[in-house]
Amino acid sequence: MVAAVRVHKTGGPEVLTFEDVAIPAPGQGQIKIKTHAAGINFIDCYFRNGSYPAPHMPFIAGNESAGEVIAVGPGVTDLKVGDRVAYVGPLGGYAAERLVPADRAVKLPDNISYEQAAGMMLKGTTVQYLVNRTFKVGKGTIVLMHAAAGGVGLILCQWANHLGATVIGTVGSKEKAALAKANGCHHTILYRDEDFVAKVKEITSGKLCDVVYDGIGKDTFPASLDCLRPLGYFVSFGSASGQIAAFNINLLQAKGSLFATRPTLNHYAAKRDDLMAMSADLFKVVGSGAVKIPVNQKYPLKDAAKSHKDLEGRGTTGSSILVP
Ligand SMILES: NC(=O)c1ccc[n+]([C@@H]2O[C@H](COP(=O)([O-])OP(=O)(O)OC[C@H]3O[C@@H](n4cnc5c(N)ncnc54)[C@H](OP(=O)(O)O)[C@@H]3O)[C@@H](O)[C@H]2O)c1
Repeated sequence: MVAAVRVHKTGGPEVLTFEDVAIPAPGQGQIKIKTHAAGINFIDCYFRNGSYPAPHMPFIAGNESAGEVIAVGPGVTDLKVGDRVAYVGPLGGYAAERLVPADRAVKLPDNISYEQAAGMMLKGTTVQYLVNRTFKVGKGTIVLMHAAAGGVGLILCQWANHLGATVIGTVGSKEKAALAKANGCHHTILYRDEDFVAKVKEITSGKLCDVVYDGIGKDTFPASLDCLRPLGYFVSFGSASGQIAAFNINLLQAKGSLFATRPTLNHYAAKRDDLMAMSADLFKVVGSGAVKIPVNQKYPLKDAAKSHKDLEGRGTTGSSILVP
């Protein structure tokens, strides 16, 4: 039996229960991992509260972790016991051990620690596709990143800056503004106190942004559209404040023939080749020091409920991890 955090009924952070579970031997194409660190992500809250349906009940929470391979199932040829790996994958990450499909696991380079890996696999591969594929950020691109001091936020600000963009970030406090600035953000806006559309107009001298990355959802829509120049890209990649309600597509024409997309990592990394290429790119920017992974909150596994309260209460910055 190993320690795990399970959800028996959906609800608030209190439904995360710390208990012992049995993890069977790996089946066809699976590996068993001894978890060294598990990443905490907003998607874990969506599954916990039922906004994303879990495939079965009860379920072990968590969608990413990093650890050591302790057993391999039949048919696994490219991983062996003792390999250091990380993955973004099916539910089950908040546990001292777990099974993962081997084709979702990626070997970690020696210069990436387990804690860094747990703080970045999901968020970092997300940023990789957001800035390279959903919209190609490059020299001179003007980017607006909401929640710039968050987990995805700090990684995206650094990466977009590294690619030559001017990065504008919205943040919930002065402390978060200072942190975002120390991590690649050129301009910050305190969007709880200031009108962020007016501030974007002022900062860009009326040019507005080429792309808005919006993981907030309900509270920043449709104002985010007013931050875009004609033919700009609205990238709605999350809904920390709740989902955007249905809207008339003519709004995109009225706001300047805008493009809008609602991407998710599962699709961008669905093919093993894409997962490997995205991970390699992430390891390269982190390995070179161009992008740092601030793991600013570390909790014991038994405190998973507190970690969700902190994340949903806007009390965290950068990445958060659980340690068994
Ligand atoms: N589509 C994908 O592939 C993908 C992958 C990973 C993550 N995501 C999305 O990316 C977003 C960020 O994820 P994360 O794990 O890195 O979280 P995070 O940004 O570390 O935390 C969320 C932040 O959102 C801001 N926020 C604004 N309104 C909020 C509200 N009503 N409730 C809670 N937070 C609010 C807070 O920052 P301030 O205090 O600065 O406002 C908070 O710290 C989420 O929407 C997540 O679903 C999407």
